[in-house]
Amino acid sequence: MAKPIPAVSAATARKLANTNRVIYPVASPIVKWAGGKTQLLKHYTRLFPAEFNRYFEPFLGGGAVFFHMVAKNPNLRAVLSDSNVELINCYNMVKNDLASVVRHLKKHRNDKHHFYKVRAMDVNDLTPAERAARLLFLNKTCFNGLYRVNRKGQFNVPFGRYENPKICDEINLRAAERALCNAKIITANFEAVVAQAKKGDFVYLDPPYQPLSTTSSFTGYTRNSFGCDDQVRLVEVFQKLTDKGCFAMLSNSDTPYIRELYDGFQIETVYANRAINSKGDKRGRVAEVAILNYSPDDLT
Ligand SMILES: C[S@@+](CC[C@H](N)C(=O)[O-])C[C@H]1O[C@@H](n2cnc3c(N)ncnc32)[C@H](O)[C@@H]1O
Repeated sequence: MAKPIPAVSAATARKLANTNRVIYPVASPIVKWAGGKTQLLKHYTRLFPAEFNRYFEPFLGGGAVFFHMVAKNPNLRAVLSDSNVELINCYNMVKNDLASVVRHLKKHRNDKHHFYKVRAMDVNDLTPAERAARLLFLNKTCFNGLYRVNRKGQFNVPFGRYENPKICDEINLRAAERALCNAKIITANFEAVVAQAKKGDFVYLDPPYQPLSTTSSFTGYTRNSFGCDDQVRLVEVFQKLTDKGCFAMLSNSDTPYIRELYDGFQIETVYANRAINSKGDKRGRVAEVAILNYSPDDLT
């Protein structure tokens, strides 16, 4: 059960939110994830529906939009999912057994030899709490905070050589534990979860993006990449949500193909600072789209 935190650092104090009598820090994403939406929230807030019932995020990743939503409404009922088994186990363990996760996380250290030993571990030999701690540790200490696996499903990002990464951010993890307490967290393909959404629910879809060019095809979050067939299945899901009376918003790259797929829906252009080459060491301002099946108040 989550407990109030009596004292926080100056940095965290800036993020404080006041709920009834106890002051809680607001949670930010617990993992850094490719395609993370934190930087776009300032453009997105005016696009979200003002009121809705449940919140669905079926391509959860780092969950930047979810953590933003739950900070605004601590009673938010959410259904969160992703096809990445390790990621979903991590969120479930933070929600249900944070003490064990923190205990294991504190055993890890930012050392190259230790990193490669932990990276090589077979997750099937670990408890769910150890697996969650392993994912958090690798995410904080690997190169660029990427999640990437090889064909055999083994995590293969190299050591990141960071000076002093915060491997165990206990304050933020406790805030995340509270943020997740009303959430159902599931490993699943997007279609299965979105089928549960009902009229008045809000579904935010952030799939792996359609590549801008053949050289920028980073869709390798897991073994199964997200191809054109998946983009087509997704637009069908978007249409079904519209027919059911759900609010749906989807992010993707700004390409003629995506604009054609969503022709007839409201398409907003937003700009993000993203890696613009496959090695991720060159960044630039890249146009993306936010596609809506409703008219938000601010835009009418
Ligand atoms: C662009 S990332 C989401 C980024 C996230 N919104 C954030 O702020 O960090 C896409 C996510 O979709 C997941 N994914 C890929 N294919 C999927 C599928 N078929 N069904 C569900 N999730 C999938 C990946 O594991 C990845 O976490």
